[in-house]
Amino acid sequence: MKILAIETSCDETAISIVNAKGAAERAKLEILSNIVSSQIEIHAQYGGVYPMVAKREHSKALIPVLKEALTESRLLKQEKIPTTEASKIKKITKMLEREPELLAAFLNFIPTIKKPAIDLITVTSGPGLEPALWVGINFAKALSLYWDMDVVPVNHMEGHILSAMIQKKEGNSTKASIGKISVPAIALLISGGHTELVLTKELGKYKIIGQTRDDAIGEAFDKVARILGLPYPGGPEISKLAEGAELDPSLKLPRPMIHSGDFDFSFSGIKTAVLYMVQKIENITPKTKATIAKEFENSVTEVLVFKTLKAIEKYKAKTLIIGGGVSANKKIREEFAKHISEKHPDITLFIPTRDLSTDNALMIALSGYMKSLRSNRVKPASGIKADGNLKL
Ligand code: KG4
Ligand code: ZN
Repeated sequence: MKILAIETSCDETAISIVNAKGAAERAKLEILSNIVSSQIEIHAQYGGVYPMVAKREHSKALIPVLKEALTESRLLKQEKIPTTEASKIKKITKMLEREPELLAAFLNFIPTIKKPAIDLITVTSGPGLEPALWVGINFAKALSLYWDMDVVPVNHMEGHILSAMIQKKEGNSTKASIGKISVPAIALLISGGHTELVLTKELGKYKIIGQTRDDAIGEAFDKVARILGLPYPGGPEISKLAEGAELDPSLKLPRPMIHSGDFDFSFSGIKTAVLYMVQKIENITPKTKATIAKEFENSVTEVLVFKTLKAIEKYKAKTLIIGGGVSANKKIREEFAKHISEKHPDITLFIPTRDLSTDNALMIALSGYMKSLRSNRVKPASGIKADGNLKL
């Protein structure tokens, strides 16, 4: 089944086309294209993501990204005579009336190409920034109407879980299979908007056993980076700065909620602690900034590892899955690998490759594929709504 997946929940405009085969847990993927167009440079100027800026950038990027994805997948063929189906064009004009840039690009491009051999469209419907999500959803609906294809809405966080399980064949970046998971499994989702511990006994069914009570961990990385004068997004910057830095016992940060006895997190206090620490130091040197970055990274890593291991023990998990943008962090990857191999060598650990840690549409393709196999009836495109707070 050929799937076209669209992801616009935050600051990446991503489209992937895959050929998926086989039962859900043993799916085989041929990755025909996996394009991610990042808005980071634009958001860096403002020091963070503003939803209306993200929406505008998605509007601009979607058609060029689609063109690139179709070209790479060898599915782009020009129509000899552009098709002008008046009634469809009228409906699409209404559908995309709030996205004038996208509408213009759509009408300039889509009627000039042949309908590609795609069986299904999948799109992120939440969670995320609602104005950004709507652009992707409306685009999916417009394509579905024009090409007469079904659309499956996908939960972005399930995408992050499945992203960890995509195993590319060595030496071949286009063929991938799905890692075998034994249940129960615990998933730790760490991103710019989420910090969650999730229990699953069956893919597609999830129970949140703990989550952050305030800031998400990625948000904390970004805010601490800002305090230290580093550019957006702060996660990779903190990580770079911390590497090679030395700790200083006089610059100690708390390990928030580490002994709370539950699986919840809190990261807003540590951000404030960093702020006070920095304010107290006169003429802060780059070396001290690096020390603070390292101490911050150590603190949050310790909390994540401690609570996740507790969850593994309590629920007798056989698999640990880590997903979301912050799973790209080197220190976090290393600490989990070390603790799992030392304390729970019988547990399989899945962490996405670094390119699949952050937002991408390949994970949305896989999630949509599995969902389409689970439910016989694919939701008609018209019923899909953006839900910024969509739960797993
Ligand atoms: O999953 P993601 O791409 O988008 C959301 O769904 O939120 O996650 C983005 C977050 C940002 O907060 C970014 O700073 C963080 O992931 N991030 C990192 C690293 N790379 C990205 N945090 C720590 N270390 C990294 N290497
Ligand atoms: Zn994400």
